[in-house]
Amino acid sequence: MQIIDGKATAKQIRSEIATEVEAMVARGQRRPHLAAVLVGHDGGSETYVANKIKACEECGFISSLKRFEADITEEELLGVVAELNADPEVDGFIVQLPLPAHISEEKVTEAIDPRKDVDGFHPQNVGRMTIGSPAFISATPQGIVDLIQRYGIETKGKKAVVIGRSNIVGRPMSILLSQKGIDCTVTICHSRTQNMAEVCREADIIIAAIGKPGFVTADMVKTGATIIDVGTTRVPDSTSPRGWRLKGDVDFDAVAPKCAYISPVPGGVGPMTIVSLMKNTLLAAKKAIYK
Ligand code: GUN
Repeated sequence: MQIIDGKATAKQIRSEIATEVEAMVARGQRRPHLAAVLVGHDGGSETYVANKIKACEECGFISSLKRFEADITEEELLGVVAELNADPEVDGFIVQLPLPAHISEEKVTEAIDPRKDVDGFHPQNVGRMTIGSPAFISATPQGIVDLIQRYGIETKGKKAVVIGRSNIVGRPMSILLSQKGIDCTVTICHSRTQNMAEVCREADIIIAAIGKPGFVTADMVKTGATIIDVGTTRVPDSTSPRGWRLKGDVDFDAVAPKCAYISPVPGGVGPMTIVSLMKNTLLAAKKAIYK
């Protein structure tokens, strides 16, 4: 069994990006600039955004953060998006989700210029990704593909089971795995799936992205399978100074001995998500997706 080290892989990719950025700067080009919009004080969102800013520094990017209280109106937030769309100094930006209930995430996402949508959440990018055209691909699924490929895990003709059908992870993940060049035979499972354990036992690769800690148990896993754990639920932990720790969707201790490869939580998919956002920002700065 080999543990997939997302932290080390992400560090390596950040250093590759930094090398490319310094070469751009040496040619007289501006550093890539990623902006983030954060509404309210959600703990998870604060952590994500802080990690994104840190990753920008490591990659040699400019980063900026626009913070707003949770009572900002939808109209005001759409105004912020319009300003960022028009700002020639900003290559790409993200609006951190979730947003407060009185703001439509759909409206805000659709207001982002697809050319600056480095999260890859805009329907235009989702559509282009689906038909295999150049697109900003959402960061978590892209990070998982990079991990699988960098570890040399065989995907051609393999059976992949994706657990979860969210717009951010499960659904785009299932599409990417089925694409030419990756060539998995993909099954997507969700809350209405019957015989989930039986379906999972067939899988060469399982991507667990449902947000239920410890959901994937040893009896659901074939010997020699590859397991990618996307779950990041905060569970109480009195031994941690924060009072909580992150727990994945996989019962790691029981499942790991059966696997060929397994990604841990933390230190697996999480760091790769952030590095994928950096890759998208570099692509935006280079105008590599939309000419
Ligand atoms: N909330 C949780 N994950 C993400 C992400 O990748 N991007 C944004 N914008 N919000 C998130």
